[in-house]
Amino acid sequence: MQIFGVDIGGSGIKGAPVDLDRGDLAQERHKVLTPHPATPEGVADGVREVVEHFEWTGPVGLTFPGVVTGGSTIRTAANVDKSWIDTDARALFSERLGGLPVTVVNDADAAGVAEVSFGAGRDRSGTVILLTFGTGIGSALFVDGVLVPNTELGHLELHGHDAEKRASSKAKEDGELTWEHWARRVTKYLAHVEMLFSPELFIIGGGVSRKADKFLHLIEGIRAEIVPAELQNNAGIVGAAMRAAKSD
Ligand code: BGC
Repeated sequence: MQIFGVDIGGSGIKGAPVDLDRGDLAQERHKVLTPHPATPEGVADGVREVVEHFEWTGPVGLTFPGVVTGGSTIRTAANVDKSWIDTDARALFSERLGGLPVTVVNDADAAGVAEVSFGAGRDRSGTVILLTFGTGIGSALFVDGVLVPNTELGHLELHGHDAEKRASSKAKEDGELTWEHWARRVTKYLAHVEMLFSPELFIIGGGVSRKADKFLHLIEGIRAEIVPAELQNNAGIVGAAMRAAKSD
């Protein structure tokens, strides 16, 4: 079975039909640039362009970089336009896509769902936490493979700061931090999350997971196993489609 998945990120809106049996894209994905400011109207136009590129007419799952309740309502918008807050995103996207059935899910939750089924968290029981390091820090918490949605661990307070402002990969770029410096911040952050949840496994996702060889060995003193995500760029698209399949 195929469902269309769309990942709405800070720089791009990417989508493709997803083969749910294989947990992989059924066709090469199409990407358009995220408009700035990333308003609901502007993003919805981008989503339509991506979906129309494939002449898709079935169900669509979308990610959003904020809290999403009920597969529909946006509750927070840390790194996108604040006018998203309280938007009925399902209604917005469905209307813009000519009435196609739509489900919306937090971006890190989507990536986590894909990793736990098809990637680095496959066949792992107990507490597993996927953290995405990008513009912000996203989190997905699983207990025996079941997602606890919208955990928002990127906004834990770390030494008096919003953690993602210190330890996201954007914080590394903005502060021109060395890998060593950034890894020290990530280590403190992981130690804090570990103190709260004692997970068996941390999965490190987001664009930075491609560069795991630059920093994973610099993270020391964490009890949990730490591994890079396996699906990398496509985890959000695959996970969004998987959630959409479940919501029918
Ligand atoms: C948002 C999360 C999101 C993460 C990654 C955070 O700022 O609050 O909902 O998952 O960024 O995009």
